Amino acid sequence: MLVGKRILLIISGGIAAYKSLDLIRRLRESGAAVRCVLTPAGARFVTPLSVAALSGEKVYTDLFSLTDESEMGHIRLSREADLVVVAPASADIIAKMATGLADDLATTALLATDKPVMIAPAMNHLMWRHPATRQNLATLEGRGILRVGPGEGDLACGETGPGRMAESLEILAAIKTFFRDNSPLKGKRALVTSGPTHEAIDPVRYITNRSSGKQGHAVAAALARLGAETILVTGPTHEPDPPGVKVMRIVSAEDMLAACRTVLPVDVAVCAAAVNDWRVVEPAEQKLKKAGGKPPTLKFAENPDILQSLSNAGDMRSRLVIGFAAETEDIIENAAAKRLKKGCDWIVANDVSPGTGTFGGDKNTVHLVVDGKVESWPTMTKKEVAERLAARISAYLAGAQ
Ligand code: CTP
Repeated sequence: MLVGKRILLIISGGIAAYKSLDLIRRLRESGAAVRCVLTPAGARFVTPLSVAALSGEKVYTDLFSLTDESEMGHIRLSREADLVVVAPASADIIAKMATGLADDLATTALLATDKPVMIAPAMNHLMWRHPATRQNLATLEGRGILRVGPGEGDLACGETGPGRMAESLEILAAIKTFFRDNSPLKGKRALVTSGPTHEAIDPVRYITNRSSGKQGHAVAAALARLGAETILVTGPTHEPDPPGVKVMRIVSAEDMLAACRTVLPVDVAVCAAAVNDWRVVEPAEQKLKKAGGKPPTLKFAENPDILQSLSNAGDMRSRLVIGFAAETEDIIENAAAKRLKKGCDWIVANDVSPGTGTFGGDKNTVHLVVDGKVESWPTMTKKEVAERLAARISAYLAGAQ
């Protein structure tokens, strides 16, 4: 149920931190990816090593660590999550969140995040009942911060009352409920094409291009995270299968079109594949041999245009058909012309000139061309482009645009 969801788990100081280790395990068993930030006080109760071993990821601890910052950075850390969970949430971190203090990595990430936050408070019952804590909680709840627990019972300090952190299963249930209620593309079907195609010359040789499939795969992952039933039709790439996505692997442009047709109807189709424009007519059945210094002559035929056929699919046309335009000059003009020619609704224009590093790289600078209007997005990672596009798709399908 949590397949493909990304949780940023902030573990602050408290004896209940041991329960967070179990929470990490259960979240991962449910399919979520868990990245953890351990506060200095949290690290007194559980070790970074156990957290890293259970989460399968590096643990982030230090705001001023050059390695942490160069690998991730607190801004990305706080944004590359679908939900931020603070468990245990001590009285101290709750107070800092309420006042907007940012004096360590955890509080900085909390202040910088644009993602929903859930807290699982854990503290002594008098601290829980203290007017300062009551007021801080009211402030956080007023900001829409979600809360699970605390429960009542014997506390680690030997006293009894409210303040026990919710059990890991309760927190897990609250997280699942959150995602069930916050999947804007739930009930929608999405088709994404990605990667290059290979067009055979003979049984061992083929023609292809430099597409890595990174952008298309990231779009599929982002749509699935928003709850869409997502089918990815991909050419040969080295990208791992995006979690929660049905992957159909094909080789040639003709295979790609056939696979896409089996998937229709869908609510949204995104063509991010770099389809080869031509295929070799009648590829040789046996490996071509050198023939006395005379190179072979290859005869080409134009491949079917998948985007165009999805845009002109009649009754089977999706509500929203989106293409990508790989351009090296007059990017916006060429992309706008391509949108009209192919009949798609939106086109994402990207500069693939040598030197931009777009093909195969992790970054992309795109312009979204929608019905004569052009939106230029700042340079972002391909994952960020995918998230923003998925959010736009979701708003469009919800009728907000
Ligand atoms: N596309 C497709 N099938 C093809 C060729 C392209 O579905 N046979 C799609 C791509 O997935 C992309 C869009 O069409 O969404 C534009 O691809 P691009 O390579 O930029 O354009 P081409 O149509 O190949 O035009 P040209 O090479 O002349 O720029």
